Amino acid sequence: KENIYILGIESSCDDTSAAVLHNDRILSNVVANQTIHAEYGGVVPELASRAHQSNIVPVVDQAIKKAGITKEQLNGIAFTRGPGLMGSLLVGTSFAKSLALGLNIPLIDVNHMQGHILAHYIDEEGHNKPPFPFLAMTISGGHTQIVKVNNYFDMEVIGETIDDAVGEAYDKSGKLLGLGYPAGPQIDKLAQLGNPKAFQFTKPKVEGLNFSFSGLKTAILYFIQRETKANPNFIKEHLNDICASIQYTIIGILMDKLKRATKETGITHIAIGGGVSANSGIRKALKDAESKFGWTTYIPKFEYTTDNAAMIAIVGYLKYRNNDFSDFDVMATARLKI
Ligand code: KG4
Ligand code: ZN
Repeated sequence: KENIYILGIESSCDDTSAAVLHNDRILSNVVANQTIHAEYGGVVPELASRAHQSNIVPVVDQAIKKAGITKEQLNGIAFTRGPGLMGSLLVGTSFAKSLALGLNIPLIDVNHMQGHILAHYIDEEGHNKPPFPFLAMTISGGHTQIVKVNNYFDMEVIGETIDDAVGEAYDKSGKLLGLGYPAGPQIDKLAQLGNPKAFQFTKPKVEGLNFSFSGLKTAILYFIQRETKANPNFIKEHLNDICASIQYTIIGILMDKLKRATKETGITHIAIGGGVSANSGIRKALKDAESKFGWTTYIPKFEYTTDNAAMIAIVGYLKYRNNDFSDFDVMATARLKI
């Protein structure tokens, strides 16, 4: 039986992460969050790459120690090549190359978005792996896509946002409400205490399977301006209801497009991935869709929703099995397609 140890390294945005996999099982998954960006209300690229620079060695060290192996036992090193912030990607890419060279083992480049999707192939108690073909909806701070996954490395984007990502919609709405960055998790928490039908926001009309979220942000802005003019304490008095209504609208937009995608493709195995897949509303809507529409849904463990290296390592393992290695002149690529 195979006996492969892969180190995964993720540094595409503001989390420095390293993970060790034994075949398709996780031995360790260490994430260093960068809290510095909260003060600025968003990720500052220059600060992110500097923080990666100081985090990367201790994070990798810790991942290998926690896995209970030595670095000499590693069979390959997988790293995020893109998409992401160039300065951030460069840190992980250069580090992965150097370590692979030093240990004289294969280097494997990984597409971050494939990582969010293929995280479902990490072997976990109580988690089923989706059978091909399935539909994956990637929802994060940088992406909103519906992907038809025919096989591990045969994926087609069949719908995507034409402006903001869904995570951005959460974060920008939260900013308008005076919530800190990232606002997604906070809106989610407050939404659970409010009435989702308290306020109505119109859903954007976008063709086919594409999404749009910039109109919603503007609608929320005008709504808040109007209401606070009449009542300066409006946000404070109605925060839970506002959050619940925003969440209800966003989940509605996502579910409408997923329903349409299942009709167009005839595929009813649905997986989600990316930071927003931690959201309680989308998790519940998908669970309900199992009995309502007969879908089979695949929801990642919380640990694998926001950026992490375990998802990079599993892609590394799947590529390793195919002898799909990278040349050492491979470059970090900010706008890498799936
Ligand atoms: O995948 P991720 O960690 O980074 C990107 O690749 O963008 O996603 C981060 C995004 C942020 O916009 C954050 O607000 C959002 O995921 N997020 C959530 C929740 N948890 C994280 N949005 C809504 N509800 C949540 N529970
Ligand atoms: Zn991500």
